Amino acid sequence: MLYRRRSRTLRVAGTAFALLLSACGTAPTAPPAADRIDALIAQMTLEEKVGQLSLYAAAGSGDDPNPDTNRQSREQQLAEIRAGRVTGLFNGVGAAWTRELQRVAVEDSRLHIPLLFGADVIHGFRTVFPVPLAEAASWEPALARRTARVAAIEATAAGLQWNFAPMVDISRDARWGRAVEGAGEDVYLARQFAAARVHGFQGDDLAAPDTLAATLKHFAAYGAAEAGLDYNTVDISERSLRDTYLPPFQSALAAGAAVVMTAFNEIAGVPSSANPDLLEGILRREWGFTGPVVSDYTSEAELVTHGFAANEREAAWLAFLAGVDISMQSGIYMKYLPGLVRDGAVPPARLDQAVRRVLLLKQRLGLFDDPYRGVDPTREAANTATPAHRALAREAARRSIVLLSNRNDLLPLPKRGRRLALIGPFGAAQHDINGPWTLFASDANSVNLEQGLRAALDDPALLTVVKGSEVDAPIDGGIEAAVAAAREADVVLLAIGESARYSGEAKSRTEIVIPLAQQALAEALAATGKPVVVLLRNGRPLVLRGAVRAAEAILVTWFLGSESGNAIADVLFGDYSPSGRLPVSFPQAPGQVPYYYSRKNTGRAAQDPQTEYQTRFLDLSNEAAFPFGHGLSYSRFAYGEPEPDRAQLAWDGTLTVRARITNTGSREAEEVVQLYVRDRVASVTRPVRELKGFEKVRLAPGQSVQVSFALRRADLEFIGRDLKPVAEPGVFDVWVAADATGGRSKSFELMPP
Ligand code: BGC
Repeated sequence: MLYRRRSRTLRVAGTAFALLLSACGTAPTAPPAADRIDALIAQMTLEEKVGQLSLYAAAGSGDDPNPDTNRQSREQQLAEIRAGRVTGLFNGVGAAWTRELQRVAVEDSRLHIPLLFGADVIHGFRTVFPVPLAEAASWEPALARRTARVAAIEATAAGLQWNFAPMVDISRDARWGRAVEGAGEDVYLARQFAAARVHGFQGDDLAAPDTLAATLKHFAAYGAAEAGLDYNTVDISERSLRDTYLPPFQSALAAGAAVVMTAFNEIAGVPSSANPDLLEGILRREWGFTGPVVSDYTSEAELVTHGFAANEREAAWLAFLAGVDISMQSGIYMKYLPGLVRDGAVPPARLDQAVRRVLLLKQRLGLFDDPYRGVDPTREAANTATPAHRALAREAARRSIVLLSNRNDLLPLPKRGRRLALIGPFGAAQHDINGPWTLFASDANSVNLEQGLRAALDDPALLTVVKGSEVDAPIDGGIEAAVAAAREADVVLLAIGESARYSGEAKSRTEIVIPLAQQALAEALAATGKPVVVLLRNGRPLVLRGAVRAAEAILVTWFLGSESGNAIADVLFGDYSPSGRLPVSFPQAPGQVPYYYSRKNTGRAAQDPQTEYQTRFLDLSNEAAFPFGHGLSYSRFAYGEPEPDRAQLAWDGTLTVRARITNTGSREAEEVVQLYVRDRVASVTRPVRELKGFEKVRLAPGQSVQVSFALRRADLEFIGRDLKPVAEPGVFDVWVAADATGGRSKSFELMPP
């Protein structure tokens, strides 16, 4: 791997184990990891043990995204570290800073146990990559793996070893602001991205100095919040939990994810941070997970507000016994666990088990061998925002852009000879570029739209820039100035959408539309009759109306990070043919949400608008405005019929579905070829279509390729009546298509054993 740097020669004299073992009079030959951990645990006081289960936001960590609960001053934090009452800190970074605190832990605390430094490194560290939802639009998990790898290289150089990512929550409600952090609505696509991100963060060896332990979050079903309202109640069946929300966790665990974080929400009355069925039953017993489970920020203390625990002592007791090993931020473990153990309410063995999980993680990360993992300010500087990282940011950004429409092939635009008017609140703005969850980078270091376009144009003087409107409010004379500029131009580039604070945590919206002031701007510009290209900035699917929907061309540009402006210019001027496809459906109206393609047919499937008493709204068809999987390129692709290589799939056999894809246009371009399946009749009703495979192919004009997908019984499994995975013999339809609604189908039969 290009970015991989290994340095395992960094064994520091006087590390924790050496100190401990000499204190015990044991010869310092390395015993097996588990024995070393147990020897350490045997030395610990009750309070030191609970210290290993207590995690806090770093004092003074500037832009922390969380509520101001239980904050410590730097002096308090240092005293706590010396006393061995802290396992680690999060969202504080920097080589010098982490080294200094680590020194205090390993030199001044009684047992010299190193600290863990964690953070939310969601889509890049200093170099910012597209928001995760955007990156999922690339349909290239290998790309996500590469960006996660670079994020890990930069973050570890700044002293981190633990990432609070990836978020692998499925989200099917566009109102939910945290949809931006996941891979969208589809189980199969989300599984691929979940695993890729874990591989990227963790590399091949957790002990290498450039790897971050990955944390899967939020366990579980956080994205199923009622009304898309963040933190809200979730009440779903165990079947849909297992069918839809859990599989990305399973894929990410199979990829080796080290830590799991619980969710804020309850499921059917039981908060996830105190749910033994989830944490002990499914996660540990069924799936065999052995790493630590951490609460989300104060989620274990919030059991009181949920009305699930009478007080914080009971909350600590319930969460800990349910399987939450580490308490994030609330401090209630430190307050109450020692007493609960002394009183016999918590078995000492459970305490030791949790401590062992945490120490083993520290061991796996190599912290007992080198608590600093080779971090120093020189390495930090050398690994931060390098040209290679910026180049990857540009590549990832342009691969994440989705071309929704392109009437009369208006795009790509020529780089010369056309007067362009860049209009809208995001045109020249040096804000809202990186998007939410970029705690360690600034928009100031990112390329804005105007800069990107000017750098690409042969004659930058042909570009006029007018703001026209704020994000949420009109500007005096703004529309008039914008219309005047549009009249002088050949093409209008309209940069509109959401600001970064519209998505992310606690950022749910009821109206998932373009804010009114910007819509008014769009209408006025459309009235000039000039062709309009909408450059949409967004962290969720949006409902596009009126002049925005009717624009000649629409590019979904999300929040693309450090190289945003350059990447958009690459696509706009045809240096790169768009290859992104929607990882979420764009509904026609907010009233359709939650909206997802993989729906059930119901007993009264809507067939034609004339017939009454069918599953449809009075005022709207059930279609999406732009379906899942949709996206255009600068060429055209013809799909041949899907051809299963046999009519019957034997119980233990493999069936291959082939389809010929031809580039019938005049440019080289990439196409995302998608495989969908429908199980016609089953003992549990199945969705009208489910994604089961995809492949991005690049074809020259006139070139044609045969794409093949293998299907086995396991690909046809679902959660049966007994809540266990099952595949049932019978007829299946199969499509090879450019999106979740198109294509012709063929069928095959899964034969009984
Ligand atoms: C979020 C987590 C995040 C944690 C620490 C919480 O509010 O839900 O995803 O990792 O804060 O910043």
